[in-house]
Amino acid sequence: MGGKPYYITTPIYYVNDSPHIGHAYTTVASDALARFMRLDGRRVFFLTGTDEHGQKVEKSALAAGVDPQTFCDRVSQNFRDMSKLMNISNDDFIRTTEERHTKACQVLWEELIKRGEIYLGTFAGWYSVRDEAFYAESELVDGKAPTGAEVEWVEEENYFFRLSAWQDRLLAFYDANPDFIAPKSRRNEILSFVKGGLNDLSISRTSFSWGIPVPNDPKHVMYVWLDALNNYQTAVGYPDTEGEKYSTFWPADIHMVGKDIIRFHTVYWPAFLMAAGLPTPRRVFAHGWWTIEGEKMSKSLGNFIPPGELVAQYGLDAIRYFLLRELPFGNDGDFSRRAVVHRINSDLANGVGNLAQRVLSMINKNCDAAVPQTGALTAADETLLAAARSLLPRVRVEFAEQAFHRGLEAIWGVIADADRYVDEQAPWTLAKTDVPRMRTVLYVLAETIRHIAILIQPVVPGSAEKLLDQLAAPADQRDFAALATGKLVPGTALPKPEGIFPRYVVEKTGEGA
Ligand code: MSP
Repeated sequence: MGGKPYYITTPIYYVNDSPHIGHAYTTVASDALARFMRLDGRRVFFLTGTDEHGQKVEKSALAAGVDPQTFCDRVSQNFRDMSKLMNISNDDFIRTTEERHTKACQVLWEELIKRGEIYLGTFAGWYSVRDEAFYAESELVDGKAPTGAEVEWVEEENYFFRLSAWQDRLLAFYDANPDFIAPKSRRNEILSFVKGGLNDLSISRTSFSWGIPVPNDPKHVMYVWLDALNNYQTAVGYPDTEGEKYSTFWPADIHMVGKDIIRFHTVYWPAFLMAAGLPTPRRVFAHGWWTIEGEKMSKSLGNFIPPGELVAQYGLDAIRYFLLRELPFGNDGDFSRRAVVHRINSDLANGVGNLAQRVLSMINKNCDAAVPQTGALTAADETLLAAARSLLPRVRVEFAEQAFHRGLEAIWGVIADADRYVDEQAPWTLAKTDVPRMRTVLYVLAETIRHIAILIQPVVPGSAEKLLDQLAAPADQRDFAALATGKLVPGTALPKPEGIFPRYVVEKTGEGA
């Protein structure tokens, strides 16, 4: 496929946890963006995968009584399964224990050595295994990491990356690339962190062995974040920087991450890359965190929701839609079953589902189950069609800024316009009084629904596909280019309509709606 390349990544997930709704969130948002860009004609490479090295994973393997590799093989599969379950369209799935990745990290290391960016020293400081991060004494809060994680004192011979020397160049980089860190609030947070001064970063460990061996000094393994971040390059062929894949897709267009890992992606990562003389990614977007029914997700509360459970109960596209519509992307928010049910019923069942069902059943009954003929258009017809046609540029602007909620809001605005139009035009009355006009009204509505169905594909791909099938939209006329060129053809036979978004009926179990 042609088109301007677009490289998008999710974080790679630690294999010490089973997938939960937090992981599904980053992945679904990335998938919606990847699908959007593909439909918009871009040549997309979409990467996800698992982060398998480090002390945290080694400890979890030990606790599970298996060797780390066996443990990783098992848990990594759970993340692949999550991608499948959530209908994720990734083009590759990387595991950091793969040979291609070991090689990529060792080459990057050697490059940094060659350029004098790494030195051997002694580390003495605090380390949090849960965060896989070092903390300065001044950052601790009541003896814990600022994230609340336990820390331990580490004193060992380590290799260091000269991060302190990159402070000014990082600030100049942020300055020259105002869209690199999004949203704005995160950008300010990172700017003040970097302005506060940077310490050199310990990038190897000797007290455990589950990691990529440091070239020429194998008693050291690489710091898991140096290893992990480099996955984004490995997947496009690094160290083969002249290769087709790397030269097409690097630098990445966007790394999608959660707010907890923004510092690694916007300070360490561009510094490593600049230090190695490699191009830096174009953008990092940090989304917020979900609480569950008002509570933080935690092991002690046992409130991690496996995505499979939600999908089984509410339906896949309902969950995908909820995740992207409920919160302004970037903000924190609460995941409650009450809110999910509300969204399903008001936006999906009563919104797009009801509109499509009403219009398609009327066509089925009154227009011989075929796309109706259209007569001259009235001002009301033109207004609705113009609103539908104006959507793509509006939604494109919102998705380019990862404002998925606003993109969806714009689409749902046209769904509301179409609902009002149906009520005003009352095609059921026209069926008795003015059949040609009824046909025109139903045509205008069907064409509006076609626009909506094409545009909601990135977020609810399965349901949108069914809707497009019901409109008999040809398979090669479902991308965004088809919005302008692929009008419904009067006379085309339409299948019997079926409900796409059923209402969710709450059982009387106390679960609110
Ligand atoms: N392995 C690192 C990432 C390395 S990327 C080079 C990591 N993995 S993780 O499995 O702990 O988390 C991955 C993602 O899940 C993060 O983006 C994080 O923000 C997200 N979430 C984890 N819990 C979450 C919520 N409660 N809510 C929303 N997202 C959350 O970090």
